[in-house]
Amino acid sequence: MKVLNSLNDLDKFLNSSGEINFVPTMGNLHYGHLKLVTEANKFDGVTLASIYVNPLQFGPNEDLDVYPRTLDQDLMHLEAISCDAVFCPAPDFAKNAIKLSANSALSKKLCGISRPHFFDGVITILNYLFQLVRPTNVFFGLKDYQQYLIVKDFLINSNLNIDIHGVPTQREEDGLAMSSRNNLMSSQQRINAKHLPVILKEIAKRSKYENLADLKIEGIERLEKLNFNVDYFLFCNSTTLEELFKFEPNTLVAIAAKLGNVRLIDNFIIQ
Ligand code: PAF
Repeated sequence: MKVLNSLNDLDKFLNSSGEINFVPTMGNLHYGHLKLVTEANKFDGVTLASIYVNPLQFGPNEDLDVYPRTLDQDLMHLEAISCDAVFCPAPDFAKNAIKLSANSALSKKLCGISRPHFFDGVITILNYLFQLVRPTNVFFGLKDYQQYLIVKDFLINSNLNIDIHGVPTQREEDGLAMSSRNNLMSSQQRINAKHLPVILKEIAKRSKYENLADLKIEGIERLEKLNFNVDYFLFCNSTTLEELFKFEPNTLVAIAAKLGNVRLIDNFIIQ
């Protein structure tokens, strides 16, 4: 596997490669990320991952400084699953990116309310990476469902000609969605965290038959009893992210909640 540290390294690699299947990440790779690479490997051409903790998508009081960085381990994992190359630019990489705004209708909802600059930061860095890499296919995890929708919308409205592939959420044995932030929890928080997908899924299933406002209150109360600080617990249209007050096919049930300083998100789509 080639490790590309500079734009020069990246250019050389791109010039000697055919179609690129691209998996952008912020590192601290877990099985969920590796699954994106395995999916990318199924397509013609080469698989390129990137590892870059993007400062533009962190707010002033968020966890940029403590975001887990485990480069050596990440490279070993990528090599083991036959990733062809990984681009690991320097921390100041983002400084040359042209600042863009994400689709406001999608980016002002759910996570965009408590993290107002988040999706602009994501779209700015992805546009920069996409312009440099010019991939044919890109791969995103559906745990970050709102991010997936926003990137999809950005690609539809760009002339980049890139296909986006959403890959189902990978879960720990107890059901907790895999996330780099899971490593930041204390052992007690981790015990409580396993209830989040259980409660979310149970309520999601009942949403077909029961009153959504009551279910939302019940979900929040049950999580608060487990020390979660709930940012949002919403039933939404899975294309527009508009809040729903009555079940419809493909309802997205989405949550963001904090345990201490660790912010967890998860979702289910109920057909
Ligand atoms: O999902 C992530 O890890 C990041 O938001 C991404 C897409 C790599 C952009 O920095």
